[in-house]
Amino acid sequence: MNKFPDNFLFGTATAALQIEGGDTNNNWYRWSEQGMIENKEHCITACDHWNRIEEDTELNAALNVQTYRLGLEWSRIEPEEGKFDKEAILKYRYEIELLLEKNIHPLVTLWHFSHPLWFEDDGNWTNPKSIERYLSYTTYVINELGDIVTDWITFNEPNVFLTFAYFEGKWPPGKKGEIGMYLTCASHIIEAHVKAYKIIHEIVKEKSNKPALVGVAHHLRIFDPYNNGLLTKLGIYLIEKLFHNIFIEGTTEGKFLFPVKNKSGIKQGKYVDFFGINYYSRDFIKGKFDPKNMFCEILLNEKCETNDLNWEIYAEGIGRLCKRFYEKYQLPIYITENGTCDAKDNFRQKYIKDHLSELLKQINNGVDIQRFYYWCLMDNFEWTEGYAPRFGLYEVNFENQARKLRASGEYYKQVCTTKTL
Ligand code: BGC
Repeated sequence: MNKFPDNFLFGTATAALQIEGGDTNNNWYRWSEQGMIENKEHCITACDHWNRIEEDTELNAALNVQTYRLGLEWSRIEPEEGKFDKEAILKYRYEIELLLEKNIHPLVTLWHFSHPLWFEDDGNWTNPKSIERYLSYTTYVINELGDIVTDWITFNEPNVFLTFAYFEGKWPPGKKGEIGMYLTCASHIIEAHVKAYKIIHEIVKEKSNKPALVGVAHHLRIFDPYNNGLLTKLGIYLIEKLFHNIFIEGTTEGKFLFPVKNKSGIKQGKYVDFFGINYYSRDFIKGKFDPKNMFCEILLNEKCETNDLNWEIYAEGIGRLCKRFYEKYQLPIYITENGTCDAKDNFRQKYIKDHLSELLKQINNGVDIQRFYYWCLMDNFEWTEGYAPRFGLYEVNFENQARKLRASGEYYKQVCTTKTL
């Protein structure tokens, strides 16, 4: 069968900082000002979505998506600690109401790599106060939107953020090799998620009389061995543990894997309602005597197709991850991101089709995959890579902000409409 179940939901995804533009109060604004983005590009313009909410909602509606994953910008909502901006939250409310009018079900991300400067300047996630700060922001947001939004993502890819921000130093605050900070932040983020899970459920129930659905969007990669060496096995063990498992086990079940500390005695339990997977690519791991780099080298498959950022295109990977984590947790799976950058639109259609075929195979084998969000609705600000990588179903002309559906976007529209490959 090449048809997805009738209740399967197709959608698109975006993140606030990557599309909105216009906000000067966040860590990425400063990073751009400091000249840290490729070609000295800047996040201040992005897709000017903050001024194009109606137009961009139409873009989604024209694709016949059933759901849309959007992000909120914390620095707009809480520009100063403890001071909330009613206008900002009302604007998000307006956008969500537009989506609902068009029968597009919202899934909302609370934190996706960006936060206010006051939070950044007081130690970011290294500060134990970060937990209470995040919970205060979350409580405000859910009180304001919990009557119309039931589905929430607490964190997007904490592993990617912490790797670039505290290990590789490519993202703000630009720390290098700070494995201690990486682990401290991980502990705080896991605790913040576990506590937010309970808060979101309570408020959504009270406001909407419906159960909330809460999860994390995990960036998951395939790490395959480059050779059979013992050191390679150790490298894979460490990278799986430090990049995947501490975040997965922490946020899914409240398990703090050594060396992440459980500072507040969080009890083990069930802390997500769905298992979110962002999947892009695979790496080959080769063991190496280098403790600073987790005893491994990360290599690209020698013979493979790659996208514009030279990431391997490996569709089987998405199926392997769904199978692995469904067997482990038996939780419904949402593909919270999957997509590719292809400025010429040469291979995006095939990419989408191949990845969806893998999902369909897994569904037909009994794996409970319920949603798919294509990354990204439109070309956008791709963090330190700037505007060159083109992930969009819609092409954006950043000179005049015109949006144009690509041929692969037409294809995805057919998929959303017919739920058939
Ligand atoms: C992130 C997105 C990003 C995408 C493509 C994911 O890791 O969540 O923000 O744009 O990858 O690089």
